[in-house]
Amino acid sequence: MSYSAVILAAGKGVRMHSQIPKVLHRVAGKPMVWYVIKAVKEAGIDDITLVVGHGRKLVEETLADENLRFVVQEQQLGTGHALMQAQSSINPAHTLVVLAGDTPLLQGKTLKELLNYHQQQQARATVLSAVLPDPYGYGRIIRQADGLERIVEEKDASPEEKEIAEINTGMYCFQAGAVFSALSRVECSNAQGEYYLTDVLPLLQQDGHNVAVLAVDEIDQIHGINNRVQLSQAEAIIRQRHNRDLMKNGVTIMAPETTFIDSTVKIGLDTVIYPFTIIEGQTTIGENCTIGPYTRINDAFIGNHVVIESSRIKEARIGNYCNIGPYAYLRPEADLHENVKVGDFVEIKKSVIGSGSKIPHLSYVGDSLLGKNVNIGAGTITCNYDGKNKHRTILEDGVFIGSNTNLVAPVTIGENSVTGAGSTIAHDVPAHTLAVERAEQKHIRKTNKNNPGK
Ligand code: UD1
Ligand code: CA
Repeated sequence: MSYSAVILAAGKGVRMHSQIPKVLHRVAGKPMVWYVIKAVKEAGIDDITLVVGHGRKLVEETLADENLRFVVQEQQLGTGHALMQAQSSINPAHTLVVLAGDTPLLQGKTLKELLNYHQQQQARATVLSAVLPDPYGYGRIIRQADGLERIVEEKDASPEEKEIAEINTGMYCFQAGAVFSALSRVECSNAQGEYYLTDVLPLLQQDGHNVAVLAVDEIDQIHGINNRVQLSQAEAIIRQRHNRDLMKNGVTIMAPETTFIDSTVKIGLDTVIYPFTIIEGQTTIGENCTIGPYTRINDAFIGNHVVIESSRIKEARIGNYCNIGPYAYLRPEADLHENVKVGDFVEIKKSVIGSGSKIPHLSYVGDSLLGKNVNIGAGTITCNYDGKNKHRTILEDGVFIGSNTNLVAPVTIGENSVTGAGSTIAHDVPAHTLAVERAEQKHIRKTNKNNPGK
């Protein structure tokens, strides 16, 4: 059996009140349609077509790496019309899954159940349904003795039909050739003047084909996102799921309700996440780390046995056994080798910090290369910017920078050299040397001994 999937994503999403196409709104760090694509791939389907319309350029750009085929629906004339646009790209012999792009909670295992049931029933069409406490807004499933009679939209339903709690999730499995031939006969004589995909079901039924309905148990999975309240609800569910997966795999999350971890983040065994921590993007954290509290990390690589407290880490690399914070700011291209200490109120940008080096307090290090076992005294600043260009500071192995040193780049300090506290070092220092740049301390006797201050 060969499979294809079509995801309908041409609609505007008017109720989002947004310039961004609905399916690109982010849920736990990824566009909502990304989760639908993920579920399809998890169900073992690689041939995926996305029907795009509103904001299609942005949708295509954002999903460029997902290996999808895009077809355009110029005018949004309904879900049936949307699927029709994909006809020429789908092999009619395939089993076809049709989904909407705005159901990020859907999971691969549910799609697998749908495919299995479709085959078991030898159906031409299988609809995934759900029984909801509040079915308002959804199409209702009208059953008859031998299966499905039809689906009626909220706007077309009679008061009795509106009482029905079983709804159409908008997720289907079809025999591809059969659905496209039925689609050509669908009309748009309904309340919205649209070509409804749901209208293929009675047509297939009338042709004597088997149309099955499978009711899903986990109703969380089927919710379509139409507004930002629902978006935040989906966000909470997806974060909960991801937190739970991490915990099941050996990560301690002390307070999952205050911890926000994107779906893309990977965390190793026995790492402990303290409360009020946000971990985003392509971040990887190793084993036995302690992260937080009050820490935000994005797109960073963090090794094993790392401690980070109350800090901001952005696109940085942190080696094993490093100790960061509290109140450190690691900016893009900060690259810390093993066993580095970065303490309070230290900012590091685009710098390599060799193993065993320490920058314990109140420093700015930018565009620098630090060797092994360098120690930077409190209040040290690399003056890396001359108003036009950025320049490099190089501190070789074993260098000891006295407190409150200004390192005026470009400047190199040789191996095991020392700078005196309070120096402004603007010239290279050879190895094994003490560099002091400081006016001599003068003692000037006060003129009025009896009146201090005068
Ligand atoms: C649809 C179903 C309804 C079901 C509900 C589940 C129909 C007629 N109705 O209604 O029975 O209960 O989904 O959420 O199918 N789209 C296009 N082009 C269009 C119209 C829609 O690509 O011309 C896309 C939308 O972007 C969206 C999906 O199809 O991703 C569903 O469209 P939407 O308008 O939200 O359908 P509903 O009215 O919710
Ligand atoms: Ca919808």
